[in-house]
Amino acid sequence: MKQYKVGIIGGTGMVGQRLITLMENHPWFQLTVIAASGRSAGKPYEEALAGRWALDIPMPEEAKKIVVMDAEKDAEKIAELVDFCFCAVNMNKDEIKALEEKYVKLECPIISNNSANRWTDDVPMVIPEINAEHIAVIDAQRKRWGTKRGFIAVKSNCSIQSYVPAMHPLMKYGIDRALVCTYQAISGAGKTFQRWPEMVDNCIPYIGGEEEKSEQEPLKVWGHLEDGKIVKAAGPSLTAQCFRVACQDGHMAAVFLKFKDGCKPSLEQIKADWAAFRGPAQELELPSAPKQFLHYFEEPDRPQTRLDRNLEGGMAISIGRLRPDTQYDYKFVSLSHNTLRGAAGGGVELAELLCKKGYITAK
Ligand SMILES: NC(=O)c1ccc[n+]([C@@H]2O[C@H](COP(=O)([O-])OP(=O)(O)OC[C@H]3O[C@@H](n4cnc5c(N)ncnc54)[C@H](OP(=O)(O)O)[C@@H]3O)[C@@H](O)[C@H]2O)c1
Repeated sequence: MKQYKVGIIGGTGMVGQRLITLMENHPWFQLTVIAASGRSAGKPYEEALAGRWALDIPMPEEAKKIVVMDAEKDAEKIAELVDFCFCAVNMNKDEIKALEEKYVKLECPIISNNSANRWTDDVPMVIPEINAEHIAVIDAQRKRWGTKRGFIAVKSNCSIQSYVPAMHPLMKYGIDRALVCTYQAISGAGKTFQRWPEMVDNCIPYIGGEEEKSEQEPLKVWGHLEDGKIVKAAGPSLTAQCFRVACQDGHMAAVFLKFKDGCKPSLEQIKADWAAFRGPAQELELPSAPKQFLHYFEEPDRPQTRLDRNLEGGMAISIGRLRPDTQYDYKFVSLSHNTLRGAAGGGVELAELLCKKGYITAK
C-alpha cells in the first residue's frame, strides 16, 4: 500500500528524473509534489521538461500532469502536502544548506542527494547495506533543531559506491590502505552526450572536488556514533584519482588493496565474503534492496559498464578481475550505477530504511 506522500525537490534534474521513475511502481511511496526552481514552477511537469527528459525510459504518466512547485517560495505548502521530501538540486552549498534547513524546520524530513550536509556530524550519511545503525544520530539532530519530525539524512557521493561496498566485507581483516581510480559516467554531472558534446570520444582527468570526497566520505560511512555525533573512522588510508569518461551511466573503479601485516585473506576467502554478504537492507527486505548486493564475475572482461550497470534494478554492485598485485596485496574492478545505486536508488532505499525504523511516519 502506498502510505507515504512524497515530494521531490529538484524533480526536473538528472537525479530528480530518476527519482520520479522510481516512485511509479513503488509499493510504499506516492509521488505527490514535484518542486524545482522558479524557471520550471507553475508548469505541468511534462511541459517544464520539454526537451529535457534525459532517461532512456518513458516519463511516468503520473508525473506528467503534476504542476511543478517552487521549492523555495512554496516550501510551507509543500511541507504540508507530503510526509517527506527527496532533495537533489544544483545550487551552491550555502543555498542548499539554507533550503534543506527550511524544510527541516517545517517538520519535513529531507533525504538529500546533495553534498552540502554530508559533513555535518549529526547528519547520517548512509548506505543501508553498510551503516544503517548511523540513523540513530537523528535523535540528537532533532534535539539540535528542536523538531519532532524534521531531520536531514544524506546518501554518500556516487563515486564511493563503486568501491566501498566491495571493500566493506573485507574490513574485518584489517585493510591498511587502498588506491582507487574511478571512471565516471557523464550523467554524474547531470549531463547527456547531447548536452555535453565535448565528452564524445573523450576522457577528462578532473572532476572538481571528487577526489577529496572519494578519499574522505568512506571514513564517515565506516565511522561510529558517539555522544550524538558520527565520528569518522581512522582508516584505511585512501588515495583516489577520478576521471570523467564517455559513458552515459555507470561508475567503474579500479581498486588496489593492502592489508595490515599478517591480515591478508586468501583470494577464495575474499570471493566467499562477497558472495555471502548481506546487510541490514537485505535483512529488513527493503523494497529497493538487491537480493544479492555484491556479484562477482569470473569472466576476465567483466563487469562492463553497458552490460552490468543495470544489475538488480541498478542497485547491485558488480565486481571482477580479483587478482594478486605486485605492490599491493590484491587488485580488482567494481561497478555501480551512479544515478540508481549512487543517487536516486540509494536515496529511495535510505528512505525505506527510515520508514521501516520509524524515523519517517505518515501524517
Ligand atoms: N547525477 C548524479 O549522478 C548525482 C549523483 C549523486 C549526487 N548528485 C547530486 O544531486 C544533486 C542534483 O544533481 P543533478 O545531476 O540531478 O543536477 P541537475 O540535473 O543539474 O538538476 C538540478 C535540479 O536543481 C534544480 N534547481 C536549480 N536551482 C534551483 C533553485 N534555486 N531552487 C530550486 N531548485 C533549483 C533544477 O531545477 P530547474 O530545472 O527548474 O532549473 C533541477 O531540478 C547535486 O547536488 C549533485 O551533486 C548527483
